[in-house]
Amino acid sequence: MSKLFVANWKMHKTIAQTQEFVQSLLQQHWPTDRQAVICAPFTALTTLRNEKLLYGAQTMHWEEAGAFTGEISAPMLTELHCRYVILGHSERRRDNNETNDAVHKKVLSALRHQLTPIICVGESLEQHKNNETTAWVTTQIQTALDGIASNQLSKLVIAYEPIWAIGTGITATPEQAQAVHAVIRALTSPATPIIYGGSVTPENIAALMQQPDINGALIGGASLAADSFVRILNYK
Ligand code: PGA
Repeated sequence: MSKLFVANWKMHKTIAQTQEFVQSLLQQHWPTDRQAVICAPFTALTTLRNEKLLYGAQTMHWEEAGAFTGEISAPMLTELHCRYVILGHSERRRDNNETNDAVHKKVLSALRHQLTPIICVGESLEQHKNNETTAWVTTQIQTALDGIASNQLSKLVIAYEPIWAIGTGITATPEQAQAVHAVIRALTSPATPIIYGGSVTPENIAALMQQPDINGALIGGASLAADSFVRILNYK
């Protein structure tokens, strides 16, 4: 499988700033077996087309249409040429009451509409300290993937993001991340891309990518500047 590097821009970048970033990134080179995906705000997604870069949204509703003020649906995203959608990011679980059950419904909707869901899982600092990571992540994955056929497991991505590592500058060590990725591998399939997120930088990406079950990264802060994102894509 090719390696996947997903930029999660969160609530950053206007259309003008997005165009500047994309123009600068497309002038640079990285190995062809490393796929870059930009998960931009909805407004910026209206201006982007899949070529060397692929695009994704950062959330969506599970219904196709209805009385859900402020929401967006899978058909609206595919109309914008989105290929991916981040689901269950810990910031949305925390701030928008995105439960495991909601994530499950969103996963089913994404797959029905040929969108690749990037399903985020990960434990809090307290759970990490109490050795509850495996049980917690297992429940998150089993609920999100309930009823999904094994031939669909290559059509979704799992992102392991320990909450204590997001935006904190503290990354899980490659060994810590690998231990959880191995648990996730056992719950999914050899064909499921499992990516790591949480303070990924150009400095720490190479060691993370040496681990057998780390197939890429979900990158927040270090994806906002084209030069640091491209350094991550070009890790050695
Ligand atoms: P970070 O964010 O790289 O800034 O830690 C990762 C994420 O929230 O997906």
